[in-house]
Amino acid sequence: MTVENLLQPHLGFGLGLRSEHYLDLIKGDHPLDWLEILSENYMIAGGKPLYYLDKICERYPVVMHGVSLSIGSVDPLNQNYLNDLKKLAQRVKPKWISDHLCWTGIEGVNLHDLMPLPYTEEALHHLTERISKVQDFLGRRILLENVSSYLTYQHSTISEWEFLAAVAKQADCLILLDINNIQVSAHNHGFDPLTYLTAMPVERIQQIHLAGHLNKGEYSIDTHDHEIIESVWNLYAESVRRFGAVSTMIERDEDIPPLDTLLNELRKAREVCDRTLAESKQNLIYA
Ligand SMILES: [Fe+2]
Repeated sequence: MTVENLLQPHLGFGLGLRSEHYLDLIKGDHPLDWLEILSENYMIAGGKPLYYLDKICERYPVVMHGVSLSIGSVDPLNQNYLNDLKKLAQRVKPKWISDHLCWTGIEGVNLHDLMPLPYTEEALHHLTERISKVQDFLGRRILLENVSSYLTYQHSTISEWEFLAAVAKQADCLILLDINNIQVSAHNHGFDPLTYLTAMPVERIQQIHLAGHLNKGEYSIDTHDHEIIESVWNLYAESVRRFGAVSTMIERDEDIPPLDTLLNELRKAREVCDRTLAESKQNLIYA
């Protein structure tokens, strides 16, 4: 299967849709190519969020991003959740749908956290089966995102990057690569983030997340509450060198600034991407 067959067209540079920006987004023109919505915020019967969502869908391409699929759990897949997700997709007509490579609870208890998985053959088999069921139900490939983590399991037999690449290939799904999460986990677990990037299958990277995190010295916390830090920009440039231009967006979940502040940060993402692509082209000419 070729790259073109696997991936949806490149969308450009986007932001996570936050209610603070509804009014700005439904008026005026902004240097913004697309928006990512948090699916669970709109899996509701009616009200203002759906009103604004419909208006925004008229103006921008939209993708759906969830936090409750719990694809790695050993609980049965939540069919009610999947029904609601599909219903929302029929309304939004998203370019794609994503969630996380994680588990979020067990025996009906929601931990409200994106927990990492043990990276074993057994987990790989379990995930492959469940992803196939979800993709069959939704009638499309989904994207799974690497989470930031603060713990590992002693019984893991392979690395996270090998596991993610194997899941994508065996389940025939796509990857939402969170560059910030790689940086946070690399710091917390002492691996080289470039090793992670190098292991990723280029033909399955559909989307990139950028965000801010807090480096506390001995460890890092994934906070999404301030601007992107230099190490993440550098790793983003490396990802552009490796994957080319991938649909990229900034996630901001706390201390939400005015829209223009985030658009300025998004401008930097465009600049880093354009500069890196130009440098790569130059290197090819002189090689
Ligand atoms: Fe993310």
